[in-house]
Amino acid sequence: MAIETRIQAAVTQAILRGQAGQAPARLAEALDYATSPGGARIRPTILMSVALACGDDRPELTDAAAAALELIHCASLVHDDLPCFDDADLRRGKPSVHRAFSEPLAVLTGDALIIMAFEVLARVAQTDAGRASALILALARRSGMPNGICAGQGWESETQVDLEAYHRSKTGALFIAATQMGAIAAGHDPEPWYELGARIGAAFQVADDLRDALLDAETLGKPVGQDDLHGRPNAVAELGVTGAVARLKDILSGAIASIPSCPGEARLAQMVQWQAERIIPVLPERMRA
Ligand code: IPE
Ligand code: IPE
Ligand code: MG
Ligand code: MG
Repeated sequence: MAIETRIQAAVTQAILRGQAGQAPARLAEALDYATSPGGARIRPTILMSVALACGDDRPELTDAAAAALELIHCASLVHDDLPCFDDADLRRGKPSVHRAFSEPLAVLTGDALIIMAFEVLARVAQTDAGRASALILALARRSGMPNGICAGQGWESETQVDLEAYHRSKTGALFIAATQMGAIAAGHDPEPWYELGARIGAAFQVADDLRDALLDAETLGKPVGQDDLHGRPNAVAELGVTGAVARLKDILSGAIASIPSCPGEARLAQMVQWQAERIIPVLPERMRA
């Protein structure tokens, strides 16, 4: 089965379970709205590609890990768009969850998706308890404090912010989770997979900062100029456009070399190359150096 099909099936199954029985109808609908159709699904795609490169000998664990990671990501976007964070009206080309439903329902949607992610992993524990608990731990470490998304969003309430630490926790964390959880699901040691996830994640946020500064909302399906508007530390403010593009290319240049040796290494290298090309933003002519 194609990777996209596996990811979609695993996410849909989790959401349907959350909508079952006597679930409150509007919150049930908001769970679906926040997760389908998704965005690029880059994190679970990386996770599954790593698992396949490592043999994917327990596909039900890989599917659960991919769904759990995407659910956390979608939750993070719902909360990130709330008025108390980025106050964004648009996400993936449609009204953000609090605009389409309400603020209480957006808070609850994010909460429910986070809890659902860990439930999905707990449900596959009978397949392989050791690997499942390692998956739960890896996801928890990259979602909460001190190194996960919560930490990343928490930096926005500090006066002194180190840009790389901010990017590493708000965005890099889930890419580190992607490579490490892919390895864990297939029974491999996650440690050597840290660097690949960290590099892709760091590049991804520099690229997002460039898009935020230089592109338009229609192209991106989300508001632009947000970093400037909210005074967020960002790569364009710190390095300029040329410097940010150079940083992005520099981070990505080491990505392929950082792939640990594994049975499907050559194919994974192709996938990383392809993802790297997609991450580099296509900037308007006048912005190109
Ligand atoms: C958006 O992530 C949030 C950032 C870390 C910049 P994505 O660009 O992966 O969002 P979707 O899931 O594809 O919409
Ligand atoms: C990454 O930061 C989002 C999360 C940590 C959820 P941004 O705030 O820059 O992402 P976008 O631009 O809203 O997608
Ligand atoms: Mg934000
Ligand atoms: Mg935002």
